[in-house]
Amino acid sequence: MMPSGMSAPSKVNPNIIRHPVLVTRAHREAKHGHRGVIVWLTGLSGSGKSTLAYSVENVLHANGCQTVVLDGDHVRHGLCRDLGFSPEDRRENIRRVGEVAKLFMETGVIVLTAFISPYRADREDVRKLVGAEDFIEVYCDAPLEVCESRDPKGHYKKARLGQIMEFTGVSSPYEVPKNAEMVVNSGTLSVGECVRQIIEKISKCGVFKVSLNLR
Ligand code: ADX
Repeated sequence: MMPSGMSAPSKVNPNIIRHPVLVTRAHREAKHGHRGVIVWLTGLSGSGKSTLAYSVENVLHANGCQTVVLDGDHVRHGLCRDLGFSPEDRRENIRRVGEVAKLFMETGVIVLTAFISPYRADREDVRKLVGAEDFIEVYCDAPLEVCESRDPKGHYKKARLGQIMEFTGVSSPYEVPKNAEMVVNSGTLSVGECVRQIIEKISKCGVFKVSLNLR
């Protein structure tokens, strides 16, 4: 089945030729004092992805880093407003987000993404697209019962009543990462501790030119 949005052709038209870049990624990264990288948060709805993405961004921004957050609940109001929650539409959602994240990353920005991204194959496709060295997959590990008890948007309640279809964890699958670079126990740890662990991981991946003296 085709996604409700237009899916990309598998081959690029050979008459489309890239223009040489004058300001390179290396120039930009030298100016920023850190590498571009994608920190890909995945997990159930209510597992803390958005909270952690914005909180990590807040700390990094305060420390002079160039950052951007791409968040499902925002992107689905614009770029991906034509997509629903079938497996095909989620795949197209993640494909588009992967491409946008890559564009930002290549400008030397630390990209934090917050998407359920429930399918392993879709996350792996993004990893392949951007290159494993620039992709840090962070599994926000919070059990369904915890996410459901939080239910910040009332979606689980509606899903149980059959008012939202294909809801992840209730009537649609979530495939737990097998090889994520990091697992954060967002079901039990405080936001502050999760943020600390994620920034430590980013740092260990050699993103910062000099070690951050966190404020
Ligand atoms: S993804 O599966 O394609 O990665 P994405 O992260 O963009 O999903 O969007 C998830 C958000 O959409 C959730 O946080 C929730 O607020 C909302 N939503 C609405 N319907 C659904 C649904 N059927 N399944 C999951 N999330 C839904």
